[in-house]
Amino acid sequence: MTKSNENSRTEEAIISQSNLTQAVANRRNFAIISHPDAGKTTLTEKLLLYGGAIQQAGAVKARGEQRKVTSDWMELEKQRGISITSTVLQFDYFNNIINLLDTPGHQDFSEDTYRTLAAADNAVMLEDAAKGLEPQTRKLFEVCRLRKIPIFTFINKMDRPGQEPLYLLDEIESELELLTWPVNWPIGSGELFRGVIDRRTRDIMLYSRAERGKQAKEYQLGLDDPKVKDLVEDELLEKALEELELLDTAGTEMDQDLIKAGELTPVFFGSAMTNFGVRPFLDAFLEMAQTPAPRISNLGLVDPLQKNFSGFVFKLQANMDPKHRDRVAFLRVCSGRFEKDMTVCHARTGKSIKLSRPQKLFGQDRAVVDDAYPGDVIGLNNPGMFSIGDTLYTGTRLEFEGIPCFSPEIFSWLRNPNPSSFKNFRKGVNQLREEGAIQILYDVDESKRDPILAAVGQLQLEVVQYRLESEYGVQSRLEPMSFQVARWVNGGWKTLENLGRVFNCKIVRDSWARPVLLFKNDWNLNQLLEDHPELSLSAVAPVVSGVEPISL
Ligand code: G4P
Repeated sequence: MTKSNENSRTEEAIISQSNLTQAVANRRNFAIISHPDAGKTTLTEKLLLYGGAIQQAGAVKARGEQRKVTSDWMELEKQRGISITSTVLQFDYFNNIINLLDTPGHQDFSEDTYRTLAAADNAVMLEDAAKGLEPQTRKLFEVCRLRKIPIFTFINKMDRPGQEPLYLLDEIESELELLTWPVNWPIGSGELFRGVIDRRTRDIMLYSRAERGKQAKEYQLGLDDPKVKDLVEDELLEKALEELELLDTAGTEMDQDLIKAGELTPVFFGSAMTNFGVRPFLDAFLEMAQTPAPRISNLGLVDPLQKNFSGFVFKLQANMDPKHRDRVAFLRVCSGRFEKDMTVCHARTGKSIKLSRPQKLFGQDRAVVDDAYPGDVIGLNNPGMFSIGDTLYTGTRLEFEGIPCFSPEIFSWLRNPNPSSFKNFRKGVNQLREEGAIQILYDVDESKRDPILAAVGQLQLEVVQYRLESEYGVQSRLEPMSFQVARWVNGGWKTLENLGRVFNCKIVRDSWARPVLLFKNDWNLNQLLEDHPELSLSAVAPVVSGVEPISL
């Protein structure tokens, strides 16, 4: 190589490294965790409006409606008027790229949400001010806690009567053991909601009631501006200032390291419906959220800035476009730059794959992407090649830590009433498991071949039956089992053998032939733990890497 060639190569490498550094510094991604009805759709829509990704309010719902019309296997969505699928919404905000990893609206599909959280670097916990913490939020919070990601809290519906703000903070601190740091503080609530005080500048952002569905105007005033007296009742302002003082003297101090470690949550008060407090939230989020973070692999932490590309599959979705009966694998880019037509290695099988039609997914729309950076999500056509947790890479072989399976709560035998259609039955069950639509367990007695479906919600079982029939042409029958709790045995079969006989639980095998104990209720579980204090059980399946699951 000549000297000038060598120089231009070096120059190219420097430019591409600096592009990568810039792209990572400009990226943030997050998923919203909330209980149904807290306002996730409304907040998502308002965030997208700020990002210019949609032009009009109502577009997210309209998109949902459209999806209900065009989707075929999701006929069930249409019948029930619910949203089951989830995708990725990317938007630009002041030259920053924000990826919102959307999660299904229905709580029966929280398993899908759990996996999406595995790909997110930040979470937004959305609460209804009147309801405070709700069951679904608590569950999803636990998943964030496992990953130790930063959590931002948005307390919504301040335009309606709600709980005392101090109570809401206390609930988060005591029940979730999560420190809070309000970034702004509300003045009044419901009919008397007057706005928020910015904790850092002490400026007031005034709320003006708008017609339902219309955007409220944001007026910002200094605390000592004479107009404040005319616009806010003295006693409301005094109360808010007293509370702020209390927080300043007795509350936690703002600490960026604690936010990063997921131990302290910045809290924002607002009203997504009237678009109040959404912009300040987005601004503070950009400032405080973490950029795409390094991820754990068998080689240690993988730096997003490393030159070699790597990523992992966190979700598979079949038949997103019913006309093509396709399957899409969602890949989260972890390091390096992804380029269209790139040849990568598939860690599990060792095969080389050319990724020729990578897609960017926006709700139901797709476009072919030319490149993507750490923190981005791309859709890959998946002709049965990918499983959840698969790693793709260039350069030195590596494998990311797998995605855990979370404890199912509903169990049912899945019977095949038609032995002649066993082949299709088997194909359907295996593919739906691979896609992560459902967890499959097996009896320890290998002569009992029927699979046990294990789900988080009843609807998940219905979707499996529905899809087996519509996509694989097989009928099936559910035979519910009366268990509600599943626990994996740390130490595996050996530990279980040493235990001798166990009572009040059923031992089954998971798809990786590991022992799982099923209990009728928590009482039975606690009984076993009392009888065997040496036993260690886990509500989350230990992650597996490099091992093929059992097929039906
Ligand atoms: P979700 O996705 O979390 O399930 O909640 P979604 O956004 O669909 O909101 C649930 C309901 O709460 C909606 O009312 C929505 O308009 C309302 N909402 C959301 N944010 C606010 C807020 O800041 N203030 C008030 N007062 N209401 C809010 P709906 O009557 O169920 O639906 P729609 O008639 O608005 O379509």
